[in-house]
Amino acid sequence: MSILPIVTYNDPVLREKSSPVKENTAEIQKLIDDMFETMYNGQGVGLAAPQIGVSLRLFVTDSDPFISDEDQETDFGPMVFVNPEIISKGQETSSFDEGCLSIPGLREPVTRPETIKIRFQDRNFEHQEMEISGWLSRIFQHEYDHIEGVLFIDYLGSFRKRLIRSKLQLVESGKAPAEYPLVPKKELIS
Ligand code: NI
Repeated sequence: MSILPIVTYNDPVLREKSSPVKENTAEIQKLIDDMFETMYNGQGVGLAAPQIGVSLRLFVTDSDPFISDEDQETDFGPMVFVNPEIISKGQETSSFDEGCLSIPGLREPVTRPETIKIRFQDRNFEHQEMEISGWLSRIFQHEYDHIEGVLFIDYLGSFRKRLIRSKLQLVESGKAPAEYPLVPKKELIS
């Protein structure tokens, strides 16, 4: 397994709508292993393929670090989501300070539906359908956004966006501190 460098927020691959994963190949299985390795190395709880520069509808999650003993029922451990879909969203919402491995050094509150109904293929490409809430629902929705070309900062109001501008510029310039490898910034062409 290898730790892959993570692309940061202004990379165009993070703004694309990713393509479906067509078939279960050795390359895809290797990619999944590498994505877990990369996610754990960055102490993340989710990682989507576009974040390592691969525009495919695939992400991995592990909500374990967030789980306390009281909410064992929402503990699914490591999960692989291939070609995921959101079938429906519940009315109830909650807010949480989200972060993203592609935007190091930033955490901001995002409001999302608490419960969602999803459909996806698992690591063996078996079709699954489930209703999720709690951490898994939160992480799923953040990662699902990645394969749709959406970032959590898109949900912020214009005031918050102004406040975080300097932090985003730091990420943009490749100078944001991160404890994990980032894709080096290309020379600026003017
Ligand atoms: Ni993210």
